[in-house]
Amino acid sequence: MNLQELRALFIEFFSARSHTVVPSAGLIPTGDPTLLFTSAGMVQFKKMWSGEVSLPFTRVVSCQKCLRASDIEQVGKSLRHLTFFEMLGNFSFGDYFKHEAIEWAAEFVTKVIHLPQDKLYISVLDEDEESYNIWKNEIGMSDSRIYKLGKEHNFWGPAGGRGPCGPCSEIYYDLGKEVGCGKLDCKPGCECDRFIEIWNLVFPQYDAAPEGTLKPLKNRGIDTGAGLERLALVMENKKSLFELEVFKPIIVEIEQLFSMKYEENKTTFNIIADHIRALTFAIAEGIYPSNIGRGYLLRHILRRAQTCAFEMGIKNPFLYKLVPVVAEVMRDQYPELIERRESVSLVVKSEEENFLRTLDKGTEVFNQVISEANTCTLSGENIFKLYDTYGFPPELTYELAKGKGFESNKLEFEKLMELQKERARTASKFEAKDVEWQVANPATSGEVFKCNHTEFVGYDTLTTKAKIVKWRNPQSPTPNPQSPSLFELVLDRTTFYAESGGQVGDCGRIYNDNLEFDITDTQKLGDLYVHLGSLKRGNINTVENPAASGDDVICEVDKSRRKAIERNHTGTHLLHSALRKVLGNWVHQEGSLVEPDRIRFDFTHFKPIEQQEMEKIEHLINNWILENIKVEISATSYEEAVKEGAIAIFGEKYGEKVRVVQIGDISTELCAGTHIRATGEIGILKIIAESSVHAGIRRIEAITGDYALQWLNKYESELKAISNKLGVPVFETQQKVNALIESETRLKNRLSQFEQTQILGLVPEILSKKQRVKDISVLVAEIPSSNIDTLRLLADKLREGEKRVGVI
Ligand code: SER
Repeated sequence: MNLQELRALFIEFFSARSHTVVPSAGLIPTGDPTLLFTSAGMVQFKKMWSGEVSLPFTRVVSCQKCLRASDIEQVGKSLRHLTFFEMLGNFSFGDYFKHEAIEWAAEFVTKVIHLPQDKLYISVLDEDEESYNIWKNEIGMSDSRIYKLGKEHNFWGPAGGRGPCGPCSEIYYDLGKEVGCGKLDCKPGCECDRFIEIWNLVFPQYDAAPEGTLKPLKNRGIDTGAGLERLALVMENKKSLFELEVFKPIIVEIEQLFSMKYEENKTTFNIIADHIRALTFAIAEGIYPSNIGRGYLLRHILRRAQTCAFEMGIKNPFLYKLVPVVAEVMRDQYPELIERRESVSLVVKSEEENFLRTLDKGTEVFNQVISEANTCTLSGENIFKLYDTYGFPPELTYELAKGKGFESNKLEFEKLMELQKERARTASKFEAKDVEWQVANPATSGEVFKCNHTEFVGYDTLTTKAKIVKWRNPQSPTPNPQSPSLFELVLDRTTFYAESGGQVGDCGRIYNDNLEFDITDTQKLGDLYVHLGSLKRGNINTVENPAASGDDVICEVDKSRRKAIERNHTGTHLLHSALRKVLGNWVHQEGSLVEPDRIRFDFTHFKPIEQQEMEKIEHLINNWILENIKVEISATSYEEAVKEGAIAIFGEKYGEKVRVVQIGDISTELCAGTHIRATGEIGILKIIAESSVHAGIRRIEAITGDYALQWLNKYESELKAISNKLGVPVFETQQKVNALIESETRLKNRLSQFEQTQILGLVPEILSKKQRVKDISVLVAEIPSSNIDTLRLLADKLREGEKRVGVI
């Protein structure tokens, strides 16, 4: 039976028992920032048990694609672990519970797929008498086959550290002594390959809070997971997952690529065959290898496969050639892989090429470190150096070190990483300044003016009345009220946008009759907005000046600067969208800077953007600008927004209510920044530079509005100056320049020929100056030449007939 048939049998079995068939969700969990990848069938249903959402169904069956990297070290060595796999599962939300779940599982394994009873074993949580009794009395499983195990084995979840969890009962299959550890106490739950867990029946009844407390779930129920590949393994009576039909074509291809036999290299081939499946599926969904979050995990998977091959002497990219094989094997269930195999291959290849460069240098340094070591522990400092200077991932260092019999001082390495982060933090704008704040003076305002939160009102208006809450003079260790220098002001409300999400802080004026500040930047300090600037008029001394004591000031944002920033911010969203449309859906924002005079946008992509692609991107964006599409802003819950397809930036923290910025059907992003009302206000967007930031990350710089016009004008006037010099119209300059270059080359060649003839004519005269010092000929001469080729030719002529020559 192939996987396709097995999947169908499972789905049919439960759908005949009133389960709704739900398709597999993606590998990126929607609206669940606690998980990097979908690691189980239950992930897409987490909220059904807690009752946070209304229930469209109470019984579900699914076959979910999953990615789990928690066991990655085992993959390849163990015969039963995979990073990418499919999980069959049946689920109940406040519907049936233990009886039905156990009865149906028992029926499926013994009556539908006919696994021999004498190979099956069961585990239950030691305190779960109910499940024990169902297996024993209702199913008829003998005592000797039911194991009561502790919480470490038989309490499942929560996935991602919070949410549904509960006791579980597992079904094991005995693969035979020959694959076991041979220990006397080897039994279900043992780490070895003998007893393979084929189905986990979880009884979610608790809702775990992040700090670990358990509350009862509103809709307690059932969550089961059966590894599709594992079920196939036991049905086909094989000993290793890698003997399954889904792996065969991949392994055969590796044999051919490496000209090596599987039998002699099982572990490495297994690792590669597993990892390329994970990579193909993840990249096809638009996840791209990078240095953070899920991209980092993907990078680790790729590098692990590549390192194994590298150690066997494979020094060329090869993984990308396996992508079409994976797509072909899985095409029946996942036809989208066929469609995307070429772009996935390209991503894999470029990542392989990058890593090969790192590997070459890094392994050299690693080997040197090992050879110089006088203990069997690799120091944290060396691990850090390999990582920080050579880009060598720590996980890889650990694994290589282990292979050489070395321990790794992970703790010391992590400390050094922490220190580095700390250095980066203190180098940032705020934390470095340690000056006391001056609070508003109660003597003149009558009461202490307290405020822990600045209200931002600058989305809809640029001017507002506000009160000064506190201030300081960051340049001097003690506040200096007389100094006209820098000030930091905190207000209770403001129209000034504080730098965040890539958008720079606002500039402008804060003033009243007695005071005037010129504000040059705005930053956030927790929930407070700090306005940085200099005092232009008045005195902030609180006794003389009640304005500093909690009285009103007016904040007025520099309007034209803000407008320019808004053009660029909306322009950034259009750029993001155009990049995804033209290059591919793996393009993700990695960082951005939105200033009044330019946009800087970093994103995941694996190669330089070609001229044609660039033109397409620019054309798309400028068409959207011409269409003058409305920019609509709304507030909603994070889940709703992501469900509707909004792009969230991984690693960003979003509050309960999120702001959604939608530009027609072109772009929907979660964004707290300020935007123009309609795309037409951008005027024009011009891309002015494209470059590489580091492996896999590209950068685009662009300008809009007046800045773009100025830039184009400058280009134009340069071109005009050139055409004037050349004495031809602008549109003929290229032709004229080509002609000039050709004529220059011709002239150079003629000159060089002329020089050669002339110099060769001098040979007899030069040679006549040859002297003999002992048995060596010495020739000293000055040669009139400007050309290296002529010199070479002359040197050849002069040394003719000499055995050994030194030339200075
Ligand atoms: N959540 C359980 C598991 O992942 C059963 O689906 O094993």
